[in-house]
Amino acid sequence: MKTERLTAASDTLAEAAAYIQQQEVVAFPTETVYGLGADATSEAAVAKIFEAKGRPADNPLIVHVHEPGQIKYYTETIPVMAQQLIDQFMPGPFTIILKSNGKVAPTVSAGLDTVAIRVPQHPVAQALIQTANLPLAAPSANVSGKPSPTTADHVYQDLCGRIPCILDGGATGVGLESTVVDATGEVPVILRPGGITKQAIEAVIGEVKLTKSLAAEAQPKSPGMKYNHYEPEAPLYLIEGESAFFQQQIIHFQQAGKKVGVMATTPLMTKLTADEAFTMGEQDNLKEVAANLYTGLRYFNHKTVDVILSECFPAQGMGAAIMNRLDKAATDRIQHI
Ligand code: TXA
Ligand code: MG
Repeated sequence: MKTERLTAASDTLAEAAAYIQQQEVVAFPTETVYGLGADATSEAAVAKIFEAKGRPADNPLIVHVHEPGQIKYYTETIPVMAQQLIDQFMPGPFTIILKSNGKVAPTVSAGLDTVAIRVPQHPVAQALIQTANLPLAAPSANVSGKPSPTTADHVYQDLCGRIPCILDGGATGVGLESTVVDATGEVPVILRPGGITKQAIEAVIGEVKLTKSLAAEAQPKSPGMKYNHYEPEAPLYLIEGESAFFQQQIIHFQQAGKKVGVMATTPLMTKLTADEAFTMGEQDNLKEVAANLYTGLRYFNHKTVDVILSECFPAQGMGAAIMNRLDKAATDRIQHI
């Protein structure tokens, strides 16, 4: 299949929307990461998303609508607390899970009685949904298990020849996927940390729970949690310790005959010497680190390194989302004891 790359503009938006209406898939930018969208009401269209990504059928998809008022068309009654979250955080990098009323294709929810809904803020995402005049089921537009795409180039690297159309709207802003909150129980649960932090959510509705690691739950609430995620081609190790310890680890791998790539921020990076390096930004600017994280994980795919070593960050605020992704991408953590 030929993959068309369109720069987002009014005429190309119409073309992309036509693909959606013809039950095809289109990759498009959102403020978090690029999504791979298709008509959420069509079983045939949704099947093409799973096929293009190689995504397991039991991992449900997020439905994207263009304004919060649309959420009620796909859900049962919206609880008061859920409505408060919707009013506060949508549109934005926030996804809410509610009881489904069965209007989206059953494969979108992977057989669950719930549906995940998001209202993206990105103007191109908004325009595509409105022009197609359909709700879009859309996972991140990467091959299943790989880091999410934050540029149209990332999408092209993964899905060239597997999808008909990529709508290029430049680099995404947040760089990590939306915060996913399950609002079907009495206390809302954060299933995936993201750009909207736990603190910001608690400021609106009081205490919320954060899902523990998969090991803590016999049956994962979010089916996607049991699969590999965000994996670069070389094994990734997270280094917890100061610069001298980090440098020792680099040398340790080099002595074992490995070429070492390093992901770190300044000023730490200036104290390290490795074979390849990707600077994620300034240590005290976690927004910048989040925005660059997936580009970093993909950067080493084009370099011949045998192992990647990454800095760790305090798991608070945006740091919680960054560490969640790094932990999932990593083979292990190496701690200074
Ligand atoms: O920022 C984002 O959320 C991006 C952009 C494209 O919107 N999308 C995204 O989708 O990250 P995806 O498919 O890569 O991740 C969706 C996550 C998965 O972990 C999935 O298991 C979970 O949301 N999920 C979807 N529907 C669910 C449901 N009904 N119940 C529990 N978890 C659900
Ligand atoms: Mg994904």
